[in-house]
Amino acid sequence: MKRDRITECNDWFLQRFPLTKLWNEHMAHYYAPKNFNFWYFFGSLALLVLVNQILTGIFLTMNYKPDAKLAFDSVEYIMRDVSWGWLIRYMHSTGSSAFFIVVYLHMFRGLMYGSYKHPRELIWIFGMLLFVALMAEAFMGYLLPWGQMSYWGAQVIISLFSAIPVIGDDLSLWLRGDYVVSDATLNRFFAFHVIAVPLALVMLVFLHIVALHEVGSNNPDGIEIKDSKDPWGHPVDGIPFHPYYTVKDLVGVGVFMLFFATVIFYMPEMGGYFLEHANFIPADPMKTPEHIAPVWYFTPFYAILRAIPDKFAGVIGMGGAIVVLFLLPWLDRSPVRSIRYRGGIYKKALALFVISFIALGYLGTQPATPTATIVARFFTAIYFGFFLLMPLYTRWEKTKPVPKRLTSVHSLEEQLEHLPELIEEIIQIKHVPNESGHAAFTSTFFSIRPNPTGIKNVISRLAKKAKGSLD
Ligand code: HEM
Repeated sequence: MKRDRITECNDWFLQRFPLTKLWNEHMAHYYAPKNFNFWYFFGSLALLVLVNQILTGIFLTMNYKPDAKLAFDSVEYIMRDVSWGWLIRYMHSTGSSAFFIVVYLHMFRGLMYGSYKHPRELIWIFGMLLFVALMAEAFMGYLLPWGQMSYWGAQVIISLFSAIPVIGDDLSLWLRGDYVVSDATLNRFFAFHVIAVPLALVMLVFLHIVALHEVGSNNPDGIEIKDSKDPWGHPVDGIPFHPYYTVKDLVGVGVFMLFFATVIFYMPEMGGYFLEHANFIPADPMKTPEHIAPVWYFTPFYAILRAIPDKFAGVIGMGGAIVVLFLLPWLDRSPVRSIRYRGGIYKKALALFVISFIALGYLGTQPATPTATIVARFFTAIYFGFFLLMPLYTRWEKTKPVPKRLTSVHSLEEQLEHLPELIEEIIQIKHVPNESGHAAFTSTFFSIRPNPTGIKNVISRLAKKAKGSLD
């Protein structure tokens, strides 16, 4: 009787809302390439971090005061007096750095496997819009604790806009809502950080995924799996996203959480990189800190800004470093997508780009000495060279022939071939007697030596059965 009621409710709901259809279209019957590797963890992890930021943000907002006189103390109150407030705050502050780590790795995957190339240009554009929104979100969030670095960081960055000819001064005044960073600035940044930009982020993630599911995922081989289909119309090199990738992504989530928890519990400030030391001092408009540097995820762009002598040109350079990423799908003229089939030039160019990005990131955290500025100019040239010379070197370089079907896809049976060696290794572990002469562990793991071939056959039969039931 009770069961019937549940079924009735279920039917009532499904007749009015296409939940099963959506689930099937985007999960159970959504075919993804079967060779996703490590680099494919970061999309789902970015989603996880976004959820973490929104949830912890809601709880922080319950005790935070967006008022220049109260903001700093309200954060201290959260840290000291609110139950579990310290945990919520560290989850949020560590989450912002984790967001950028995950998103940078996610973007790097795109560069490696040419995921931005036709027909995935729009996924990339939505991704870049997400990146810009994320930077705005992090920048405005950093003002909220109203510490010295919050205050002076915002002061420096907003005053950059005044370098724009004609409209610059009015623009920075309009952004601040005052002649200096003040309570008015804090209030508007709070509104943007808590509702406007998160809404934009969630909407952009939705568009990003819709665009992805329209054309389907790329993969480490850069081959279109839709080109080879079985008689039922399913890509032969594809597997349903659920349960295969939901389970795979859960492994990524587990490993990520271990790292995330380690940072939160043991090194939440990360030596001043995740939470800068100067931000534990309340904002003082009368006292400029000796060395103003943004949080690590902005420093590559900050280093580019400082490397260019003219202030306005610096702002253009910094903006250009982001704009050029939007143009990537049209700058890359290579006939192949994945780095696996590209020539040596692209591989070297990408390696140089990564080195220059990290070097600029480091230089951005350091004071701008004359030598550091010259080094930053050198790496800025490499950064832009990677993109601006791309139409040339990707067209000229010789690429390798791309196979029709995915490579490096090992069936379960093929992987099991290595099992006997593994078992051999385990059972042959000999434990040496310790120094006191006691023979602590002298035997092998198993007292009766099992037959590896027998085990292999049993597992192989089981695996075949399991696979058959899932196909
Ligand atoms: C809030 C930030 C972001 C979230 C939550 C997000 C989420 C995702 C998810 C879940 C996927 C599918 C799984 C995967 O391929 O890893 C994906 C794919 C993709 N994302 Fe993002 N993403 C974000 C930011 C970005 C950014 C900043 C870019 C680049 C500018 C980008 C570019 C791409 C591309 C090109 C794909 C397709 C990759 C492929 O098929 O090989 N995403 N994203």
